[in-house]
Amino acid sequence: MTFDKIYQFNFPTTIRFGCDSSKELGAYLTSNNISRPLVVTDPTVAQLDFFKSMITDLKKKNLSVEVFSDIHKNPVKSDVYKGSDLYDETKRDAVVGVGGGAALDVARAIVLRINHRDDLFKYDDLIGGDVFATNDVPHFVTIPTTAGTGSEVGRSAIISDDETHQKKILFAPKLLAKIVFADPVLTMDLPPAITAATGMDALTHNMEAYLAKMPHPMCEGIALQGIALISKSLANAVNKPDVESRSNMLIASLMGAVAFQKGLGVVHSLAHPLSSLLDTHHGLANAVNIPYGMEFNIAGFEQKFRQIARTLELKEETGKGVVRYLFDLNASINIPHKLGAIGVKREHIDTLADLAIADFAHPNNPKPVSRNDFKTLYEKAL
Ligand SMILES: NC(=O)c1ccc[n+]([C@@H]2O[C@H](COP(=O)([O-])OP(=O)(O)OC[C@H]3O[C@@H](n4cnc5c(N)ncnc54)[C@H](O)[C@@H]3O)[C@@H](O)[C@H]2O)c1
Ligand SMILES: [Fe+2]
Repeated sequence: MTFDKIYQFNFPTTIRFGCDSSKELGAYLTSNNISRPLVVTDPTVAQLDFFKSMITDLKKKNLSVEVFSDIHKNPVKSDVYKGSDLYDETKRDAVVGVGGGAALDVARAIVLRINHRDDLFKYDDLIGGDVFATNDVPHFVTIPTTAGTGSEVGRSAIISDDETHQKKILFAPKLLAKIVFADPVLTMDLPPAITAATGMDALTHNMEAYLAKMPHPMCEGIALQGIALISKSLANAVNKPDVESRSNMLIASLMGAVAFQKGLGVVHSLAHPLSSLLDTHHGLANAVNIPYGMEFNIAGFEQKFRQIARTLELKEETGKGVVRYLFDLNASINIPHKLGAIGVKREHIDTLADLAIADFAHPNNPKPVSRNDFKTLYEKAL
């Protein structure tokens, strides 16, 4: 590899990783002179026992806590406005995001909005809006409760338009959390279907990052280790979860998000339109598409697929072996082989292909993907 151009490598923030690390939250806030946090979550997590105990513990430590959980499954702009209004009305001094990718994205977008009051989508990264994120942002802490997106170590938030459902990406380096409390205990009771879908999202991040075009040997190393951890743990985390499988999945999802600063690829571009058009969960959309997208990528990249196959400890050290492994893994965690099983119909394919070619992920795919390729891939997966 000859580095005749200059690339930027970014690594994340302080991560407190391990069982019960989330119990350090109260002491951390107090030692940083924070006394009035806004805790952002989703309506389901807000009802879970670990969340209620977390809030009780903060109150016991004499912190004034306000919870905001009024958010959509695929979060929209008005969710962010409601949360930032609550922050102002109740005079908060920090934001703590607790939840899956959806809640953490809303928390991060609220962090941006507090001192950036133009229309939220003015800050859309795809139209160069990151340059407007010039003001300070509140102190931001993240606590993941799924093991998939790795949004806890991210610097972007995916928020949809209320009317068009188009997904926008808000991005700014200052939106990185000051600290992450990654506590596998919080993921212990994740239902099997969510564990499977979010886990496949993490696997897709690691595989696509490893293959992505940008030269980044550090991320390639992280991605391969992420793949190894997931291959040892995802089926167990779904079918007979224990602390080891939950811990491996949580660290591997964090690693996937670190690795994908190198780029994503064809699978994410196949998946995003399913969420915009049919409200499919992001991880599930990746899970069904990944065997087909990886098969598309083999020719010309046999060496890299051999490395993935070795990392997975497959007998068949080829791209074909990797594709077979992905189908088998999906089957073992009850993810369907075909898009038809998750509500995709033939009449959707043209619109899906239009959305996929306009998506931001595939320009980093190791090889170019045309609209016709997307159409063929959707047809194959149908
Ligand atoms: N910012 C990024 O870098 C990034 C990357 C990829 C995806 N995303 C976004 O992340 C979102 C998807 O995130 P996700 O896959 O984590 O799903 P999610 O946040 O939608 O959560 C999935 C479901 O699991 C529930 N849940 C969460 N934690 C739980 C727990 N501990 N126990 C029981 N149930 C629990 C939630 O209430 C929800 O119903 C999408 O909105 C997507 O656009 C963001
Ligand atoms: Fe993803």
